[in-house]
Amino acid sequence: MDREMPNTPGVQVEDEERRRQRKLEEALEIKSLRRIISAYLNYPEAAEEDVKRYERSFRKLLPAHKALLSHYPFKFQKLRRCISMNSYFIFNMLQAFEPPLDMSQDINICVDPHLEHAPNDHPCSGKRDACSCQSTSASSKLDQACIMEGCNTMCRIPKEVTTNEEVKIEVHQEYTSGSCPVGPDDKREAGHCCENDVTDSCGHVSSSSRDWLDPSLQMNVGLVDVDKVRCIIRNIVRDWAAEGQKERDQCYKPILQELDALFPDRSKESPPACLVPGAGLGRLALEISCLGFISQGNEFSYYMMICSSFILNHTQTAGEWTIYPWIHSNCNSLSDGDQLRSISVPDIHPASAGITEGFSMCGGDFVEVYSDPSQVGVWDVVVTCFFIDTAHNIVEYIEIISRILKDGGVWINLGPLLYHFADMYGPDEMSVELSLEDVKRVALHYGFQFEKENTIETTYTANPRSMMQNRYNAAFWTMRKKSATENHVTP
Ligand SMILES: C[S@@+](CC[C@H](N)C(=O)[O-])C[C@H]1O[C@@H](n2cnc3c(N)ncnc32)[C@H](O)[C@@H]1O
Repeated sequence: MDREMPNTPGVQVEDEERRRQRKLEEALEIKSLRRIISAYLNYPEAAEEDVKRYERSFRKLLPAHKALLSHYPFKFQKLRRCISMNSYFIFNMLQAFEPPLDMSQDINICVDPHLEHAPNDHPCSGKRDACSCQSTSASSKLDQACIMEGCNTMCRIPKEVTTNEEVKIEVHQEYTSGSCPVGPDDKREAGHCCENDVTDSCGHVSSSSRDWLDPSLQMNVGLVDVDKVRCIIRNIVRDWAAEGQKERDQCYKPILQELDALFPDRSKESPPACLVPGAGLGRLALEISCLGFISQGNEFSYYMMICSSFILNHTQTAGEWTIYPWIHSNCNSLSDGDQLRSISVPDIHPASAGITEGFSMCGGDFVEVYSDPSQVGVWDVVVTCFFIDTAHNIVEYIEIISRILKDGGVWINLGPLLYHFADMYGPDEMSVELSLEDVKRVALHYGFQFEKENTIETTYTANPRSMMQNRYNAAFWTMRKKSATENHVTP
């Protein structure tokens, strides 16, 4: 730009301003990512604190009461062993992570203190994200909704992470102002932007050095962040453990059956394209790919993306890892054995699962990424599972889903309406919380017609052996976008 118009001071000032803005956004994004990495790294310490707390309470018992619980010191020991196993998994996951930005750069120079103290963690877009684990934890509403922050301000470049022979799962990370293709047909740039060594022309950072894991770069993280890591551990069970099969059968199976029925003649040469916004840890997107669709998961939480990328791209064999997902709550356990039971993950080897070419995970905020004009009329199907209630503005979600579908394309949805931002009281927080009836009315407005509708009872990241089970009567529907000629929009 400078070269083309060297004598246009106005343009130069604008360029300078844009560069400054980008630098600022990058710095804030690095900060956000460091915080997430710090939260993961902080896991052992935070878990140890819990065990110490249990020990303190135990020590306060009267000797006679203590004598009744003589096995407790042994339980604490076992808990510590479980924590180190979980930490081992987490550390391996972080080791495999390729940060999309230079994590070691000095970010203090350009972070505007005003923005730095803004109440959200997602600086580039000025939005908060949410990943409600909709957990079964008993403690607080926050705990229940388990609001997870991630990053909807992804990186400039699409990134392909390919570490095993059979599978090629593209991980695009979309920067707000980026120009990376994310549609089902566009694999061009993803292919050549993805050298994994030293900083390349796309800005990738060396993968051999793990300086960003250096303790000196870590930040203090609060309990909320610690909770997010625990939330991810429960999500791993939902998506990648045999124990999550029942929940997957409740949530994913009806969707897969519906896809199978709606696209009976899908061809290998030209598979239908399916988008899964809010893909979480990627299992549903993978299953859809294995069913013979070009499948793209979209996810904006770095917590999720780091973990799904690890499982999808770095798994050597099924059952490679042992984790202890249920150790963090002493509540509603039938026995210590239940609480301390191990889980093998993943239950399958993703690379050998039989994915269809073109499977990808696209990092970024659904609204930002799929509002791009290049996305109009691109998708045959959009599948939303426990996603639409993550919206600040669900009307906007529905409008975008309609716009990105082809005429005659289908939207399959399964989930509740536990609006993630319903409890945010900040003056700038926006949360539009529609009833199911209004959601359907809005969908009709955007050209959808109902093909199927019912209710499915399901849990979400539930501990199957817990005495407490939160159940949802989730709405399940298939809607078809009317073709342009049929589409008479009613006001
Ligand atoms: C309740 S979880 C459901 C995950 C997955 N679909 C499942 O059924 O397990 C919602 C997911 O949507 C993601 N999410 C929330 N808002 C998003 C947005 N605006 N764009 C992309 N992903 C988003 C969250 O990070 C989270 O992973």
